[in-house]
Amino acid sequence: MQWKALALALLVEHGSGQGAPVPSGIPPMLRFQCSHLVIERLDPLVTPGSIPSPHLHQIVGGNSFNATMDPATHDLVKDSTCTSCTFTEDLSNYWTAVMYFRARNGTYKRVPQLPNLGLGGNGGITVYYIPPHSPNVSVTAFKPGFRMLVGDAASNKPGQDPKVCHRCMPKEGDNSNLNCAAPDTQTLPAEPCVGGIRSVITFPTCWDGVNTDTPDHKSHVAYPIKGNHDSTPDGGVCPDTHPVKIPQVMLETIWDTTPFNDKEIWPEDGSQPFVWSTNDKDGYTQHGDYVFGWKDDSLQRAMDARCTGDVCSVLQHQTFEESMKCTLPQTVKDDVDGWVASIPGQSPLA
Ligand SMILES: *[C@@H]1O[C@H](CO)[C@@H](O)[C@H](O)[C@H]1NC(C)=O
Ligand SMILES: *[C@@H]1O[C@H](CO)[C@@H](O)[C@H](O)[C@H]1NC(C)=O
Ligand SMILES: *[C@@H]1O[C@H](CO)[C@@H](O)[C@H](O)[C@H]1NC(C)=O
Repeated sequence: MQWKALALALLVEHGSGQGAPVPSGIPPMLRFQCSHLVIERLDPLVTPGSIPSPHLHQIVGGNSFNATMDPATHDLVKDSTCTSCTFTEDLSNYWTAVMYFRARNGTYKRVPQLPNLGLGGNGGITVYYIPPHSPNVSVTAFKPGFRMLVGDAASNKPGQDPKVCHRCMPKEGDNSNLNCAAPDTQTLPAEPCVGGIRSVITFPTCWDGVNTDTPDHKSHVAYPIKGNHDSTPDGGVCPDTHPVKIPQVMLETIWDTTPFNDKEIWPEDGSQPFVWSTNDKDGYTQHGDYVFGWKDDSLQRAMDARCTGDVCSVLQHQTFEESMKCTLPQTVKDDVDGWVASIPGQSPLA
């Protein structure tokens, strides 16, 4: 529903490399890269304390990440000594499923990732925080302990209102269509994609104003009932139950499927060979988890300052080289780099 914001987000992709001047006329939105902290089977939001969690994730952000992260005691800001994201005040954690290629002989290889247009680092996740466009509409940054989840790791059918989708990327950046509208699909693309596969996960922008989390990690937040959360005439209406406008968090990952584009190595029946780490080859199970961990009021300041891109006068930033140094060892020792007989935690697909 955020066509306009995303149209402009795509324009930003051409000109907002770290330190690069931001083109004029682009509405405010933080857009920055977070490299991998670790790729492993942990999920402190959905299965806290479970070692391993049911499926493999790519995890980025502050290095206090661990299997439990009890909201009553775990302080992401105090307990982290670094972040894999550009802004050093952002000790939050973000995670998603990871993509695998399945060869004809039935073995699997994790699909590498590319830094997003204009950004650097080792791939990982591009994170957006988008405030309302109008300078006179405010947005309320998240409170300590805030968490939320988008998507359903057990889904086997398309969602009604897609917030998780794939784009088959052309060779050059594609400005033509926006967030989860055609040609984006909830299924994984059926044909080889010369520019890789982009996965987008868009979080809700309305909050109940009370709960930092709920048992399903979803009910305390809601999507606008009309349009996006912007103040323009086309949108900005939060439901009465969730009246507080929060920044729009969006996660974007570019999967470099190009080493696997030769149809000679695709399944003989012509189906596509990519599989989410949930063991899902349809594509409905990609999901995004968010555990808020910005230092003090830094996110609020950045939203109020209407910063754009990955340079912000009210935030500290580090180079991509520095952010790539922030990593964690795996707690669950899975081979996530070699060819494997099955995706960690999964049975081989039939
Ligand atoms: C996670 O970190 C917290 C504090 O940083 C610690 O108390 C807890 O024991 C850790 N849990 C695990 C499973 O390592
Ligand atoms: C399976 O196929 C892949 C891709 O062709 C190849 O790299 C791998 O070595 C093969 N594994 C086995 C066990 O044959
Ligand atoms: C907010 O800004 C818009 C356009 O810039 C203007 O039309 C509107 O009156 C302003 N609202 C308030 C409450 O200042």
